[in-house]
Amino acid sequence: MFTLNLFKPKCLSIDLGTVNTLIYLNGELVLDEPSVVAIRDEPGSLEKIVIAVGKEAKNMLGRTPGSIEAIRPMKDGVIADFSITKKMLQHFIRQVLNQSFFSSSPDILICVPCGATQVERRAIKESAVEAGARNVFLIDEPIAAALGAGMEISESEGHMVIDIGGGTTEIGIMSLNGVVYADSLRVAGDSFNESIVKYVRDKHDTIIGEITGEKIKEEVGSAFKSKTIKKKTYVGRSVLTGLPTEFIMTNTQVLEALKMPLSAIIGAVRTALEQTPPELASDIAKNGVMLTGGGALLEGLGRLIKDQTNLDAHIAENPLTCVVSGGDIALGLINKNSMSFLSSE
Ligand SMILES: Nc1ncnc2c1ncn2[C@@H]1O[C@H](COP(=O)(O)OP(=O)(O)OP(=O)(O)O)[C@@H](O)[C@H]1O
Ligand SMILES: [Mg+2]
Repeated sequence: MFTLNLFKPKCLSIDLGTVNTLIYLNGELVLDEPSVVAIRDEPGSLEKIVIAVGKEAKNMLGRTPGSIEAIRPMKDGVIADFSITKKMLQHFIRQVLNQSFFSSSPDILICVPCGATQVERRAIKESAVEAGARNVFLIDEPIAAALGAGMEISESEGHMVIDIGGGTTEIGIMSLNGVVYADSLRVAGDSFNESIVKYVRDKHDTIIGEITGEKIKEEVGSAFKSKTIKKKTYVGRSVLTGLPTEFIMTNTQVLEALKMPLSAIIGAVRTALEQTPPELASDIAKNGVMLTGGGALLEGLGRLIKDQTNLDAHIAENPLTCVVSGGDIALGLINKNSMSFLSSE
């Protein structure tokens, strides 16, 4: 039976993250999938065939036979493979829209890293148009993160947000719905995993994959020294014998492993503070800084920021969904003409 609902305009907010893609449809979270695609070569063609997307494809990472490849088309905060990213985005959009002949075309807002190039922005926009969007808007990730974390960025006061995702750490200082300072650093959750993998190889003579590196980070990870010792046993492959071997990781060891990427993030926060006009810097000193993105869940990060910058760090209530929910808020503001924060391309 037809209802008028079919003709109601649909609004999609998409957080196209390097690790996770999330979609809000008309104010509700309808998709939360890993940004992973499994592909197969088409014999006699240069075109790749997509055989799985999201969770199903993630389970194949590192476990595929020769003819199939599970890849993350966005890595280090950039689109490493345009055509696969496009296919993934279109797959997710179609999945949530479940388009019927009578459905109206949706308005789509996509959150992008502020370091994304004009070419990347145009490619993302085109993918959404090809997937059937009526209007496409792009918004920089730190603004969406700030809106989603409930920050009042329309005020004339300065607000600072640090979004630590998988591929990039985005630092944004905002005031009056505009960006006063933005920096995008290709050091985030993925770099943490890689540093742990390297540490385990160097200190335990053991080879592990990035999935185990990530598990160690989430289970015993720490960004600040703590009196409480956390430790857990993991399994990898011995460099010496080539056989499976057990090793123990503690929070102190993870802290040592993460020294370099953490100091890069702290350095970028310091630079941001140095380059901010003094009035805004004093607002930030008063308000503190908001941490969003999955990396905000790393234990002790707030204490590290306080220790190194003297800023109070608040962790957003839902760090992993801030960007997509902020995009949804931005879509609402578009109708009220408060659009100064939308990206031009
Ligand atoms: N409890 C935790 N402790 C530490 N890190 C965590 C935890 N939970 C998730 N993460 C990390 O958060 C990252 C994913 O966060 P998020 O979904 O915000 O990234 P993304 O938006 O896909 O990436 P980007 O914004 O860089 O494009 C992963 O690196 C993951 O390992
Ligand atoms: Mg993100």
